[in-house]
Amino acid sequence: MNTSTRHYHITTFGCQMNKADSERMAGILENMGFEWSEDPNQADLILYNTCTIRDNAEQKVYSYLGRQAKRKHQQPNLTLVVAGCVAQQEGESLLRRVPELDLVMGPQHANRLQDLLQQVFDGNQVVATEPVHIMEDITKPRRDSKVTAWVNVIYGCNERCSYCVVPNVRGVEQSRTPAAIRAEMEEIGRQDYKEITLLGQNIDAYGRDLPGVTPEGRHKHTLTDLLYYVHDVPGIERIRFATSHPRYFTERLIKACAELPKVCEHFHIPFQSGDNEVLKRMARGYTHEKYRRIIDKIREYMPDAAISADAIVGFPGETEAQFENTLKLVEDIGFDQLNTAAYSPRPGTPAALWDEQLSEEVKSDRLQRLNHLVAIKAAERSQRYMGRIEEVLVEDQNPKDKTQVMGRTQGNRLTFFTGDINELKGKLVQVKITEVRAFSLTGEVVEAREALLV
Ligand code: SAH
Ligand code: SF4
Ligand code: F3S
Repeated sequence: MNTSTRHYHITTFGCQMNKADSERMAGILENMGFEWSEDPNQADLILYNTCTIRDNAEQKVYSYLGRQAKRKHQQPNLTLVVAGCVAQQEGESLLRRVPELDLVMGPQHANRLQDLLQQVFDGNQVVATEPVHIMEDITKPRRDSKVTAWVNVIYGCNERCSYCVVPNVRGVEQSRTPAAIRAEMEEIGRQDYKEITLLGQNIDAYGRDLPGVTPEGRHKHTLTDLLYYVHDVPGIERIRFATSHPRYFTERLIKACAELPKVCEHFHIPFQSGDNEVLKRMARGYTHEKYRRIIDKIREYMPDAAISADAIVGFPGETEAQFENTLKLVEDIGFDQLNTAAYSPRPGTPAALWDEQLSEEVKSDRLQRLNHLVAIKAAERSQRYMGRIEEVLVEDQNPKDKTQVMGRTQGNRLTFFTGDINELKGKLVQVKITEVRAFSLTGEVVEAREALLV
């Protein structure tokens, strides 16, 4: 390792939003002359981009941080940065807890990393957590993948779900302009990426903070309009978006997805609970009937669409019967994938203060029962792929079997097949599915000619 070059390491926790922020911060650091170091112990600057969605996510950060804080006593010029949602939540108090830290910066400050580090190198200990207008970033992100890329379309969240810290740590909604989004996508297309995922915590809220209304009284800029505006970006073959909120999900959006060939037929729409009373106390703003109607509508337009979601078990006061309504929803809908979590009380959220907190035993029992059902339903959903020809975008080698490559179908199922990564990376390949499992598939390459005959 060249000793005159400064090296950086980033560890990222949490959601895709954080991953996208890390890639932008890595871009800024490389622009400043830093080079990537896989090993944090070889780095001169370590950045933890943190998550606080549940308590265990937050605790993980402290254990990582403790180790590096110790190292700083031997290596005083080591720069330690905590970015992301724990940084925003804890602010100054993080400095008191870990005095070795140089910089504590909330997610809204990601694009300001260079300025903030300049203050650190001038000898200051810096906390940047005040709300700011997020600046358009002119630095090129250092993207982890060469095939798929993330593009933020809206930052923050204006909802107030009673269990959730995100609005506290990510601030109010700020949409990027359609022109800025399209320009970034075009740049990504020129760099040979094939797939883009548009990101927002509540992506259906896109545009409601931008000026302009249509003659019919709608916001001029919506996610649906954005999809029409960006769907033909050259080079980009697939467009995904996440996360959708059932409260704002529209039939117009479903139609757009059915109409636009590059928009993948995969919807990630968290429902959180299948019980109306619990949904009300979560402040989600919809009923399970409304949720079911959305899924029915999607399946009316796109019978084969993949549906995934998030759900929480053990919300304060959730009764056994209410939990069973969640099981029932999962049974009825049959999700392709479901991210499940036991409720975790979060600081600064209303539900954390309620009396009827459930025991860890009840929560983990419900989580296990739900996960069991999810796996059964996902395996059922996988059956429909058996023998079919699916288009797979190849992302990587299968780490467990180097003779195989892996990628995703447009419905987002992980798929493995025999092939050479050097030849296939970034290619869309027609694959005949020969084996199905709950959350992944195996197949074999089909000749293009054969594919046409099918
Ligand atoms: N904006 C998205 C999800 C954001 S957070 C939405 O509205 O659905 C990602 C997921 O974490 C949530 O969908 C929820 O299932 C889970 N989650 C959020 N807060 C939680 C908490 N306090 N305890 C357990 N899970 C939580
Ligand atoms: Fe959290 Fe609700 Fe916003 Fe999703 S919509 S980020 S769950 S407050
Ligand atoms: Fe975690 Fe922040 Fe995302 S709390 S889930 S990293 S928005």
